Amino acid sequence: MNNIAIDGPAGAGKSTIAKKVAEKLGIVYVDTGALYRVVGLHMLNKKIDVNDSSSVIHELKNCKISMDYVDGMQRMFLCGKDVTNLIRTDDVSMAASTVSGIFEVREFLLDLQRNIGKHQDIIMDGRDIGTVVLPDASVKIFLTASINLRAKRRYDQLIASGEKVVFENVLRDMKKRDLQDMNRKISPLKQADDAVLLDTSDLTLEESIESVLKIVGNNGVEI
Ligand code: DC
Repeated sequence: MNNIAIDGPAGAGKSTIAKKVAEKLGIVYVDTGALYRVVGLHMLNKKIDVNDSSSVIHELKNCKISMDYVDGMQRMFLCGKDVTNLIRTDDVSMAASTVSGIFEVREFLLDLQRNIGKHQDIIMDGRDIGTVVLPDASVKIFLTASINLRAKRRYDQLIASGEKVVFENVLRDMKKRDLQDMNRKISPLKQADDAVLLDTSDLTLEESIESVLKIVGNNGVEI
């Protein structure tokens, strides 16, 4: 199987770019952040303090996650309910980042992620795809951009989806999430040794997509 791994910090454009690349290559796009977001949402729903690891671990057994593709779009289900549109709030982002630092949560989601890539060509994005989930991926890309630009993209997304947010708060939360994701002990966000670094700060979306396709081609992947 040809698996493409894309890692990088929040707001680097991973999902937008990966989705387009998947379309062009005719392969499946897998957003792994959505899995952590569903765990975060479940804990918030159950009023579990996400900083209290033992309570989170105890509650995991009740967190029944599944995913499906409807019209090519990844939909997320929690205990059978479609929660795709409930997992993009700032509260859920932070909860997802916090629970993702717990070893048992990562183990809980690992097989699910690995199995998806076993029988089909995929492009999967996250934080530890190239380092942990798919260490044998055919292509690994570490996508990044300046913190101000990432916060601005995130701010625009939230405003477009009707949320009332202040840019400074989005920037502050993004810095906090970066720190949490990069400094956690287990599977921290970091560039795999064999990943290609792509900084999209000065690139348009089209240019970023072209750059990814070029890297995929340079790695000899014919999909
Ligand atoms: O990609 P995202 O912003 O939707 O991810 C939400 C959080 O989930 C992110 O802050 C860290 C965590 N995450 C992770 O630890 N490992 C992944 N492969 C994907 C996401």
